[in-house]
Amino acid sequence: MSSLSPRLEKIVSYVLPDTPLFDVGADHGLVVLALAERGFKGYLGASEKGKGPYDRLCKAIKSSPFQNRIDVKQGDGLIVLPNQVKQVILAGMGGQLICDILTKEPSRLDGLERLILEPQQEMEKVRSLLNKLGYSAEKEEYVAEKGHIYPLIAYARKRESEDSLEIKYGRLPLKEADPLLIKGLRKRKAVLAELKKSSSLPPQRLKEIELEEKDLDSALKRMNA
Ligand SMILES: C[S@@+](CC[C@H](N)C(=O)[O-])C[C@H]1O[C@@H](n2cnc3c(N)ncnc32)[C@H](O)[C@@H]1O
Repeated sequence: MSSLSPRLEKIVSYVLPDTPLFDVGADHGLVVLALAERGFKGYLGASEKGKGPYDRLCKAIKSSPFQNRIDVKQGDGLIVLPNQVKQVILAGMGGQLICDILTKEPSRLDGLERLILEPQQEMEKVRSLLNKLGYSAEKEEYVAEKGHIYPLIAYARKRESEDSLEIKYGRLPLKEADPLLIKGLRKRKAVLAELKKSSSLPPQRLKEIELEEKDLDSALKRMNA
């Protein structure tokens, strides 16, 4: 059985068993290929937007034993989703791009049971939008790749209010004192402490750093870390 990176393996673990799934921006289709290989039953689809990435994705699927098992589409975001899809993956993208994709076709969100999101920047924007759209995290953990940590979030449609710290760092990782989040926050604190040593720091930037430090301390305190 082919092996996946720890990040992609974690994404696979967030997939609802045998529930029709579509991976938007699937790159080489590693997640859907792994699911097919592991005996996932039910529809499996994957897409890419541009011609080059789409051709690469087609080639990867065609050269696998699963070319008749995985539906490959070219198109922008949720536009290509067939009606039967019940869960969608949007991973390895900037938070703003994830927000743009989700808001471009809001009607395509109807009927989806799970959104598996892994934003690589601007996670706050994603959590805030999902909250506004009436989604709440059912599962959330941080995953590490190449020295960075990213939140992986499985959203379902239900309302649960979140405070600003939860929007910033994730309700469940804060509640569960996620070790990677603790490590990431401590690292960020060290970066900010270094930045503050600079004598040429504009006052506005200093103010921003101090506000961020306050949030970092509150988050670490909430996790008893
Ligand atoms: C960095 S890759 C991440 C690939 C994979 N999902 C992962 O987590 O490793 C992001 C992919 O999203 C694709 N992409 C960007 N915008 C898109 C859109 N609007 N619709 C579909 N795919 C898109 C890019 O072509 C790129 O292959």
